[in-house]
Amino acid sequence: MDTKRIVIKNRENPADEELFEAARILKEGGLVAFPTETVYGLGGNALDGDAARRIYEAKGRPSDNPLIAHISSMEELAPLVSRIPEAGQILAEKFWPGPLTMIFPKSDQVPLSTTGGLDTVAVRMPDDPVAQKLIRLAGVPVAAPSANTSGRPSPTTADHVWQDLNGKIEMIVDGGPVGIGVESTIVDVTGPVPVILRPGFITQEMLDELFGHVEMDPAITGPMKEGIHPKAPGMKYRHYAPKGQLTLVELTEKTVKALYTPGSSLYSQVSRIMADRGRSWGLDPESFYMAWQVNRLAEEKEKEGCRVGVICTEETRDVYTAAVKRSIGRRSSADSVAHNLYAVLREFDDLGVDYIFSESFARDHLGQAIMNRLSKAAGYQICRV
Ligand code: TXA
Ligand code: MG
Repeated sequence: MDTKRIVIKNRENPADEELFEAARILKEGGLVAFPTETVYGLGGNALDGDAARRIYEAKGRPSDNPLIAHISSMEELAPLVSRIPEAGQILAEKFWPGPLTMIFPKSDQVPLSTTGGLDTVAVRMPDDPVAQKLIRLAGVPVAAPSANTSGRPSPTTADHVWQDLNGKIEMIVDGGPVGIGVESTIVDVTGPVPVILRPGFITQEMLDELFGHVEMDPAITGPMKEGIHPKAPGMKYRHYAPKGQLTLVELTEKTVKALYTPGSSLYSQVSRIMADRGRSWGLDPESFYMAWQVNRLAEEKEKEGCRVGVICTEETRDVYTAAVKRSIGRRSSADSVAHNLYAVLREFDDLGVDYIFSESFARDHLGQAIMNRLSKAAGYQICRV
C-alpha cells in the first residue's frame, strides 16, 4: 500500500480542505496517523470493528490491548458510554480538551474489538487543532493508539510514524513535532474513587487537588508481580525495550541527605571533586553526583570494550567524559524532558549501542510519567547509589 503524507501548513489553524481526504479515509474504514498534543495517533473509525482490527494489524499489537476513542466535543461522549459518573463530568469540565483519557462503562455502540473485549471504553478529547478538526470532519469517534510499531517508542514526529508505518496505512498527516511528548494520563472513573492507570501530563497532584485523593494502579510504580493484573491492559506489556540494555541511576534519600550535610564523608568527597573539575558548571551537588555516577558506570562498561551511550541533560552534559551522550532536556524543566524522551530513545536504537545509562528525575508532578516510561524501558533496572 502507498502511504500518502500530507503536511499541514498552519498547525494552529489547519484549513478544512487540508483534512477532507484524511476524514474521508477514516469514514470509509481506512487508517490515518495524525498529531495530537501528546504523541502521534494511528486513527481508525472506533465504531467499525474491522477498522480496529486493521489498527492492531498495522501496529503488530496484541488485540486484547484496548484502544482509546477520540472525540472532538462533549456531545460525542454520550453515545459511547452507558453512564457518565460524576467524577468523569468534573474531569471533563476541568481538563477536556486535553491530555486526559477516562475509562467509562461502554455503550452497545462500541464494538468489543475496539475495547479489547472489555465492557468499559477509554475516551479522550484531544486539544490539538489538527486532531480536533480531523475528528470533527470524520464525523465518527476515532480510535487511536500511539502510531508506532508495537515494541518501539511512541512517535513524536511524523518521521517517526513514517519509519514504523510506511506502506501499512493510507495516510500520515504531518503537523510537525508534538508538544507534550508522553501519552495522556488515563483515569478510571467507573469506581467510587478515581484511579490513575497511566501517569501523564495531568498529574496526580492536579487530581488530588480536585478530589482530595485519587488512587494509583500498582502497575504504575513497579514491575508486575505475579497474580496482579494492571487495570490498563497495555501497562502489562514491556511496551518498548531499547536495543541496548538501559539502566537508570537514581540517588537514594540517604545519599541526597549526605550530599547536603557538611561533615559527612560524601559531602567532603563531592565538594573536592567538584572543586577539582570546575564548580563553574553551576550544578547543585545532587545533579553533579548523579551525572558523575552515570559517567562512572558508562566508563566501566567502555573499558570492557562495550559500545555505551548515556542519557544526559543540558545542565550535566559537560560532566561526562565517557561514551556517546544525548541530552534529554533540562533538569530544571520536566516539560523539556517529556518532550524529548521518545526521540532520544529512538536515536539510541539507531546508534546501536550495547548499554545505555541514564540520569533519573524527581518522581513528582510530570516526573512521575517520565520515570514511569523510563523505568519501563529499562525493564525496571534501576541502580540506586
Ligand atoms: O496520548 C494518548 O493517549 C495517545 C494519543 C494518540 O491520544 N494514545 C495512546 O494510546 O497512548 P495507546 O493505545 O498507545 O494506549 C492506550 C492505553 C493502553 O495502555 C490501554 O491498555 C489503555 O489505554 N486502555 C484502553 N482502553 C481501556 C479500558 N477500557 N480500560 C483500561 N485501560 C484501557
Ligand atoms: Mg502506545
